[in-house]
Formats: sequence, C-alpha cells, structure tokens
Amino acid sequence: MTAIEAMGLRYRYPDGTLAVDGVDITVESGERLALLGPNGAGKSTLLQLLGGLVEPDDGTVRYFDETTDADSVRDRLSVLTQHPADYLFNPTVEEDLRYGPTQQDRPEQEVDRLVDRVADRLDLTALRSKPPFRLSGGQQRRAALASALTVEPDVLLLDEPVSNVDAANRAAILDLLADLSDRGVTLVTSTPDTELVPHVADRVVLFDADGTVADTGPTREILTDAGLLADCDLQPPQVVRLFDGRGEIPLTVEEAQRRLDTE
Ligand SMILES: Nc1ncnc2c1ncn2[C@@H]1O[C@H](COP(=O)(O)OP(=O)(O)OP(=O)(O)O)[C@@H](O)[C@H]1O
Ligand SMILES: [Mg+2]
Repeated sequence: MTAIEAMGLRYRYPDGTLAVDGVDITVESGERLALLGPNGAGKSTLLQLLGGLVEPDDGTVRYFDETTDADSVRDRLSVLTQHPADYLFNPTVEEDLRYGPTQQDRPEQEVDRLVDRVADRLDLTALRSKPPFRLSGGQQRRAALASALTVEPDVLLLDEPVSNVDAANRAAILDLLADLSDRGVTLVTSTPDTELVPHVADRVVLFDADGTVADTGPTREILTDAGLLADCDLQPPQVVRLFDGRGEIPLTVEEAQRRLDTE
C-alpha cells in the first residue's frame, strides 16, 4: 500500500517565495524515508504539504490509496513541524500529551497508559506538570514528539526530530523511532543533516538548494556519492569520508566499529 502519494506539488509563500516547485513523492507504507537537502530547499514546507497542514497551490496529495482529504486521516497521520511550540499549547506538558488521544475518544485508562509509556521513553516523566513554555529547547522538542506519538499514528512526518537534543536523548529518540518502524509505522524525516539519515531512513529523496529533487535512491547510494551531495551543498557523513576508498564503507560509527572489530 502507498501511505502518501504526492504529485506536482507547488507552493508559493505570500511574499512571493516559491518554496516547492513541482515535487512528486511516493511514500510506501511501512518505509523509512528521508527528505534530505540544504537549508531553504523547501523540506519543511513540503512536509507540511504532505501532512495536509498547508494546501498546495498546485498538485495533489493522496493518502492510503483512498482519499485526498487530510482531515479524514488525521487519526492515522502525525506531523511534527520544525517548531515544537506548534504542538504545546496547553497549560502543562501532561495536558499536551493527553490532548490527542483524548480527542480520539480513547478511554481514560488507555490515555493514561499511552502517556505513561511515551513520557517514560522520552524522559519526560519529571516534566509532566510543567508549563511547556518553561521547558528548554531540547525538552520542548521531546515533548512535541511525545504529543505526536500518543495518538499512535500509522504515518509519522518528522521535521528535524533531534535538533537541539543531547546525545542521551537523541539515542532514546532514535531507539523509539526504530521500534515504531519495526511495528510497521511509516517514517518520513526531513533534515539537512547527512549524519542523521542512516539512523532514520532506508531511502532518501535528495533536494538541491533550489528545492528541485536532485536524486532518489537507497540511503547507502546517496550518502556515499560525494559529488552528488556537493551539488546540493551537502557532504557525506564523516565516517563515510574517513573510510572512502578503504573497502566496504560504513554509514555510521556503529557500523564502522563492527567492521573494525572483524578485521
Ligand atoms: N512563512 C514564510 N514566508 C515566506 N517565505 C518562507 C516562509 N517560510 C519559509 N519560507 C522560504 O521558503 C523556502 C523554503 O523554506 P523551508 O523552511 O521549507 O526550507 P527547509 O528546506 O526546511 O530549510 P531548513 O533546512 O533550514 O529547515 C526558503 O527560501 C524560505 O526562506
Ligand atoms: Mg526546515
């Protein structure tokens, strides 16, 4: 099944900036896809179009092979935009986390269970009674992600999910995303960071600075092509540059460690 099929998307901001110019994207159900490109390429705008938060000027977005009405699939699709404050509008973190599942008319005990589980995984337990605007930047991002997860979406659209997040929490988030993917959740992550991509995606849609799709392919193919990335003002991950020309190229430090251990 196709989770999202977008054809001919175009979007111009009121000030005249053409942010997305004729983009076609298909997201297969259950896949992990990265939207990779430099700053200003239009990734965040595109993610909002894919999530139905913004109407395109041209083009269509179709969900689950069945509808173009994003509102009718709100229960199955969570979008985390680049600004965590978009999701944190209740007096406390607790209420923000309960908001989505309560809107879905889930029984209170189930809401308790969902919120407890996500808060625990994202290290938010001690922050549940705090007003969201009193959280640090990284805490806000974790709280926003948590609020996107308590509705148990089938498709998760994430804009820079670990920016501002420390190493321990970054690992916790990546671990959680891996578990969700194992359970069949479709993940689309937008980022300018080639280091993040191998942790969140098996396939990449690469954008150049103009916001045109430069290439689409398996993560390994895209991240080991230094020339292609340079054309998009990006670089391969550090470990790829280190091992370039020295046999099988690892994409992450963990893969490099495994390779060195067997040598
Ligand atoms: N509200 C807005 N009004 C006018 N122009 C905007 C607005 N938001 C974004 N843009 C412009 O649209 C283009 C695409 O922006 P967008 O935020 O989608 O890029 P991005 O690929 O997500 O970049 P980054 O990696 O920095 O997050 C940029 O040129 C940006 O200046
Ligand atoms: Mg962005």
